[in-house]
Amino acid sequence: MRAVRIDRHGGPEVLAPADVPEPRPDDAEVLVRVIASAINPVDDKTREGAIGEGTPPLPMTLGWELAGIVVDPGPSGLPVGERVFGMSHQLASGRGSWADLVAMPAASIAVAPSSASLVEAATLPLPGLTALQTLDWLQAGPGDKLLVAGAAGAVGGLAVQLARARGVQVDALVSRQAQIEVVRELGAGHATTDRTTLPVGGYDAVFDTFGAFVTDAVADGGRYASIATQAGPVPDLSHRAVRTTVNQVREDGRGLAELAAAVDGGRLKIRVGAQYAVRDVKAAHERFQRGNLNGKIALIF
Ligand SMILES: NC(=O)c1ccc[n+]([C@@H]2O[C@H](COP(=O)([O-])OP(=O)(O)OC[C@H]3O[C@@H](n4cnc5c(N)ncnc54)[C@H](OP(=O)(O)O)[C@@H]3O)[C@@H](O)[C@H]2O)c1
Repeated sequence: MRAVRIDRHGGPEVLAPADVPEPRPDDAEVLVRVIASAINPVDDKTREGAIGEGTPPLPMTLGWELAGIVVDPGPSGLPVGERVFGMSHQLASGRGSWADLVAMPAASIAVAPSSASLVEAATLPLPGLTALQTLDWLQAGPGDKLLVAGAAGAVGGLAVQLARARGVQVDALVSRQAQIEVVRELGAGHATTDRTTLPVGGYDAVFDTFGAFVTDAVADGGRYASIATQAGPVPDLSHRAVRTTVNQVREDGRGLAELAAAVDGGRLKIRVGAQYAVRDVKAAHERFQRGNLNGKIALIF
């Protein structure tokens, strides 16, 4: 079968589908025939060798998310042929999703949304679970004011929509003027490119996707979560009774089921910016690196 496996770190030129043995699922795993996956910033950093400590040994198969068809249900109780989607913590497990067949823990997959294509569903697991788990940590609920920094990005755009569905008032910090209309359509109220206009102490919670560290914007007693691991820790705000974290996404089949319900209930829109066949994975990464995307890059198997 094919897998996008790298045997050295570097630019997109180190990427190519290779012929590798099929995985053998263990007693806790489901074998999935992958239809599509997607590119995330972590794949770019892992390929380059920018993650450092905690990177799986070479050679490694890249990729964190997938959507596909159940081939062997294992202990899941799912029927053969069921449409599923899942997230594999590639850095922790070494189990990459960019392969024709992937053996996934049954607890890390869920039935895919019925109203979305498998290509769309494949772009949701990593940013969707990151948005969901971080909103849970932020305890953002009805009436709360939330600022999402990087709101037009993959995680940010889903966080805006999921927070709005919880009755949260959401404002947005974005990088370019063109993104203002994008985040308003996703449900943001005030949207700005200028961090100096953010109200001091104006937010119960801040969801920071790129290491903006706009700490003045959070109210005393509030919550501040970053997901920008490589930007380092959020400054200590304990003197203002602000709880802080750098959140790390976890595999979570129940969370995926919640995301699928949000898609099927019309509360979560999936944005696919471009699609590439897996044989063109190098070109897909080059497109990813150019940025200026409105939606994720899907890889089709
Ligand atoms: N900790 C975790 O578990 C976890 C999980 C998922 C993702 N992440 C990390 O979180 C980050 C975001 O992921 P993503 O998939 O959402 O990436 P993304 O789709 O590239 O989104 C990042 C967004 O931040 C914006 N941005 C960057 N610098 C900015 C600035 N100075 N001012 C305003 N906006 C700015 C980008 O705008 P432009 O498009 O203009 O650049 C983009 O809209 C990545 O670093 C990723 O590795 C961490």
